Amino acid sequence: MATATKKAPAKKAVAKAATKPAAKNGVHENGTNGAHKNGNGAASSSSLGKGIPAKKGKGSFSEVAGKYCVRDIKMADEGRMLIQWAESRMPVLMHIREKYKKAQPFKGLRLAGSLHVTKETAVLVETFAALGADVSWSGCNPLSTHDAVAAALAKGGISIFAWYGNHEDFYWCIERTIDLKPHLTLDDGCDLINTVHEKYPEFAKRDVIGGTEETTTGVHRLRARAAAGKLYYPVYAVNDAITKWDFDNVYGTGQSTIDGILRATSVMLAGKTFVVAGNGHCGSGVAKRAVGLGANVVVTEVVATSALKAVLEGQRVMTMDEAAKVGDIFCTATGVKDIIRKKHFESMKEGAIVCNTGHYDAEINLKELASITKSKRTIRPNCEEYTLKNGKKIFVLAEGRLVNLAAAEGHPSEVMDMSFSNQLMCHIKLAEAHKAGKKLPKEVIDIPKEQDEFIAETKLSTMGMKMDKLTKEQLAYINDYNAGT
Ligand SMILES: NC(=O)c1ccc[n+]([C@@H]2O[C@H](COP(=O)([O-])OP(=O)(O)OC[C@H]3O[C@@H](n4cnc5c(N)ncnc54)[C@H](O)[C@@H]3O)[C@@H](O)[C@H]2O)c1
Repeated sequence: MATATKKAPAKKAVAKAATKPAAKNGVHENGTNGAHKNGNGAASSSSLGKGIPAKKGKGSFSEVAGKYCVRDIKMADEGRMLIQWAESRMPVLMHIREKYKKAQPFKGLRLAGSLHVTKETAVLVETFAALGADVSWSGCNPLSTHDAVAAALAKGGISIFAWYGNHEDFYWCIERTIDLKPHLTLDDGCDLINTVHEKYPEFAKRDVIGGTEETTTGVHRLRARAAAGKLYYPVYAVNDAITKWDFDNVYGTGQSTIDGILRATSVMLAGKTFVVAGNGHCGSGVAKRAVGLGANVVVTEVVATSALKAVLEGQRVMTMDEAAKVGDIFCTATGVKDIIRKKHFESMKEGAIVCNTGHYDAEINLKELASITKSKRTIRPNCEEYTLKNGKKIFVLAEGRLVNLAAAEGHPSEVMDMSFSNQLMCHIKLAEAHKAGKKLPKEVIDIPKEQDEFIAETKLSTMGMKMDKLTKEQLAYINDYNAGT
């Protein structure tokens, strides 16, 4: 595989995206919370036939009706530099961008995405645009949008609806991306797919070619939807690719979760008892990194083999009831709700730090914590001090949302290079099948092995690593049922 690192970013293609009509008029720089108006003052209507409702969020926004709504378009230059930084560390994705630039596989296709707006996501978004897609984007978590990056995308001509702290208008933003009438959907957590399926089932059945899903929790949701006979278009389970699940979730979440905890607290991990709930892909990655920094790691699990793996890694396994009494820092990584609840908070040590790195904020039951809390204050960014009625203090990071994205910058670009190459290749498959008139089954589709091999080989080659190849004799030996001592 040719080394992709040497290739210059596809500037022309991005520039093409940047010249799409953007903020000519109708830009609102302050509190535009009323109904959207287009440039000539007429009420805009959404593409699926309804008027655009007002959003609820307060504060100031930079907004062009039907085109973008971000926190502050003036942050675009800062965001552009972050995107360029990420591009230089995502050689596989940039290689695929170059490879398909001429073919324009997405020409004539519209793609809506709902995925954390980070610098790495921006590289993916601009790759879709460079390859011909008309793209519309929203965040997939209220606390994960990097406002400077969102501004850069908006300024570059991408239709984007996302800002940090978007609690009230989360689904409003998703709806704005559906206004594009997408042929393709790209999800992280299934909120976009769910909205399309539940609110616009006829559109989903008739017009959407297919989609992709980025994360474990989203794939669970998808498989449940498919099992119920309610999946209306084919969706690739990108999460389950080896070059995603075994790398992004393990090494990406491992590093960035510790990064988020340190940025929010600046505590020393050495010597602390660090409780990880769930020894799956993400949890085992977090545990490894915590061990590396000198923490005593305790794991809680519900699957015996996963618990056993932790034990053989030198970690202790306990129930959460036991772990709650001894932990200094807690991190949930299960994708399951109510992992830490009232009885656990009650038995925690003074000063315990609690956070989550699973997709949804359901893992730590903050309602139950609130019910035993006397007062609460933000003591540092992304760190809230809860003073319990019994006088004990507990610190919760990032409102129980994924700490690596809310308090840090999410996964390193190098690992998102592989995840997003998977995303791109799956969408190219969907677009090519559509153009060839081929109907894919309306199922959750696994990632083909060749795709994993291609991405891993390309990644290795961009890192300057070479592998051996099996000789003919070795191949024959493997397949020889008579070979022995
Ligand atoms: N923070 C991020 O950037 C990021 C990245 C990727 C995935 N995720 C999310 O992290 C979560 C975990 O993903 P994963 O890929 O590690 O999944 P996984 O299936 O590999 O691991 C989950 C583990 O949790 C365990 N578990 C389930 N219920 C439990 C309980 N009650 N107590 C203790 N352990 C329990 C399971 O047995 C399993 O070992 C998902 O919500 C996923 O979407 C977050």
